[in-house]
Amino acid sequence: MPPTPKYKGDKMTIRMNLGENSYDIIVERGIIASADKHFNLNRRALIVTDTGVPEEYSRTVASLCKEPLIVTVPQGEGSKSVTGLTTLLSAMLGGGFSRRDCVVAVGGGVVGDLAGFAASTYMRGIDFYNIPTTLLSQIDSSIGGKTAINFDGVKNIVGAFYQPKAVLIDPNLLKTLPKRQISNGLAEAVKVALTSDSELFEIFETKNVEDNLDEIIIRSLIVKKNVVEQDEKEAGLRQVLNFGHTLGHGIEASVATSELYHGECVALGMIPMCAPEIRKRVIDVLKRCGLYRTVSYDWQKIKDAAFHDKKADGRCVTVITVDSVGAFEMKEIKCDTFIEDARTCLEELRI
Ligand code: GLY
Repeated sequence: MPPTPKYKGDKMTIRMNLGENSYDIIVERGIIASADKHFNLNRRALIVTDTGVPEEYSRTVASLCKEPLIVTVPQGEGSKSVTGLTTLLSAMLGGGFSRRDCVVAVGGGVVGDLAGFAASTYMRGIDFYNIPTTLLSQIDSSIGGKTAINFDGVKNIVGAFYQPKAVLIDPNLLKTLPKRQISNGLAEAVKVALTSDSELFEIFETKNVEDNLDEIIIRSLIVKKNVVEQDEKEAGLRQVLNFGHTLGHGIEASVATSELYHGECVALGMIPMCAPEIRKRVIDVLKRCGLYRTVSYDWQKIKDAAFHDKKADGRCVTVITVDSVGAFEMKEIKCDTFIEDARTCLEELRI
């Protein structure tokens, strides 16, 4: 992987080089107020947000558009649904949107996934822009072009790889985010630090996390850029971004949504995937990030959810493991062995 460019200030443009799907990710405090300098908003724009996002963010974007149409979906995973998709498609159709118009997401991962998928399907694809407003979406889901809705109880099962035309990341928007949501996003940064950026991991170990958020965001984005540029459609390398997620998704699906956030589940999911020699360092960092939570595990449910299959035992799954910070391996392991090893690890650690 190419070396991570040094971060030298409080703003940075990261170019995602994906041939004709290339785009810029601009990280800058206050940039939402000049979204029209980076997006072509001189046309109809469907601005998609949710009830949990401060209204002023979507209003700010609307004030910069020639013909804005704001749609506010209910906050939460439930909006990543056929109903949510229908709402956006109907709004575009009813609003007379043509192939030359655009969709702008102003929200977290749910809004970005839903709005991006709607943009990918309307008239076979119209321009999509993203202004992620949570740390989780700023670090991970807003870039890389994965869009999806959930279907028949299965997460992200219907979707498309559809790259945005540009992404604006404004760390000022995080000021309104509850502390637990900041921690939620940090899990994805710890993930990329463990697999690919030992210097980022040292920031977590030695510096005040909240004071270094801009650098944490930028370094995380650069790791993701390098991975996605090499493997846009997840044929191989991109699976590294799923580090901690197989078990994490299993845990997430096995508990009530309000009990644990995605990042908290991924944090738990990463621990057994790290070599015993580095687990103490990992746990210390997770504690510093407010990501160390315990939960009562239902291992049967976790297994079913992790593999979407009640008969997964004999099958193999690709997992990412980390033996030393900043480097990873990809391994094939039997699903039942994977679950047993994870269970033994978490039980021994009493997490
Ligand atoms: N969040 C994992 C990926 O974008 O591939």
